[in-house]
Amino acid sequence: EKGGYDYFMLKEIAEQPKAVADTLLGRIDASGSLTLDEVRISASALREVDKVVIVACGTAFHAGLIAKYAIEHWTRIPCEVELASEFRYRDPILDQQTLVIAISQSGETMDTLMALRHAREQGARVLAICNTNGSTIPRESDAVLYTHAGPEVAVASTKAFLTQLVACYLVALYLGQVRGTKWGDEIGAVIRELSRISCEVERVLETMEPVRELARSLASKNTVLFLGRHVGYPVALEGALKLKELAYMHAEGFAAGELKHGPIALIEDDLPVVVVVPSPRGRSVLHDKIVSNMQEIRARGARTIVIAEEGDEAVVPYADHLIRIPATPTLLQPLVATVPLQVFACELATARGNEVDQPRNLAKSVTVE
Ligand code: F6R
Repeated sequence: EKGGYDYFMLKEIAEQPKAVADTLLGRIDASGSLTLDEVRISASALREVDKVVIVACGTAFHAGLIAKYAIEHWTRIPCEVELASEFRYRDPILDQQTLVIAISQSGETMDTLMALRHAREQGARVLAICNTNGSTIPRESDAVLYTHAGPEVAVASTKAFLTQLVACYLVALYLGQVRGTKWGDEIGAVIRELSRISCEVERVLETMEPVRELARSLASKNTVLFLGRHVGYPVALEGALKLKELAYMHAEGFAAGELKHGPIALIEDDLPVVVVVPSPRGRSVLHDKIVSNMQEIRARGARTIVIAEEGDEAVVPYADHLIRIPATPTLLQPLVATVPLQVFACELATARGNEVDQPRNLAKSVTVE
């Protein structure tokens, strides 16, 4: 049932192009606009939404952090993202105009379920983004957009994460479409890019051998840091989470702009630092700032592992290891940038003799608070 792979995780990483394509299937019509009939919240109710609040845990929370950039950019609706376990204990401000999005692969995560119950009690509308048909979270929500990743068996989430991102982009674009926004042209272009993205994920998967080799060479390290900016920041957090879970290594993700506010003190000789570089074509200011961050940490001895778009030559002088990803619109970059980090963590776990599909102390679905 592992389809020839040693681990479910490897199989699930490889299934990502299909999972992404399946999640888009039937949701973009011939004219290139979105049809999300399953979102049973009326267009007029969606036009009244004045705040979006995303609640989730772990990897699903990282998908939510990325969704915030897309939702706020395309819809201009303020969006908060909160760990489900923190949400209801701070007495959040919610009403009928609040759209709460609960993201969960299993649909059974107790913290997320309690957060959405709390939101509904306050009168908010809840949209679930979920991978498991008929599970508790979608059953208790006003509407659901299913991700079509298929069953995810490995404890560490991979294909569910990519499909959560796709679903979040669809919701953001749909909200933009329903409400009308000045980004109409951009939204059309992004929808076209999304329909191609599964091929780009496939291309990334074909170039992963050097990443595996690199991972094996780092098996005796204790710490790996991850840096990113904009949507690359949650990607850095996700890369670090995967490494903790699978390789049991100390791994931390930082917003690159925060380096000089503390984390740069951690840099020492030969410390591996993974840097997720924004596209030089999109937010070029951010690109240039991260290039100077790379310069700064390298001057202090860091060994840089750089994930950068094809054709981005400015990073070359500061990259000890260079992992290329296809060029995408800025907001979609996490769909390709996360894949090498999954492969990296999986290979490090294997090299360290860890159980890949069943990391110690973890369960696939966390049904207690
Ligand atoms: C990480 C991981 C966990 C889950 C989290 C939420 O690889 O698998 O962090 O993402 O427990 O689970 P769901 O999405 O089922 O609510």
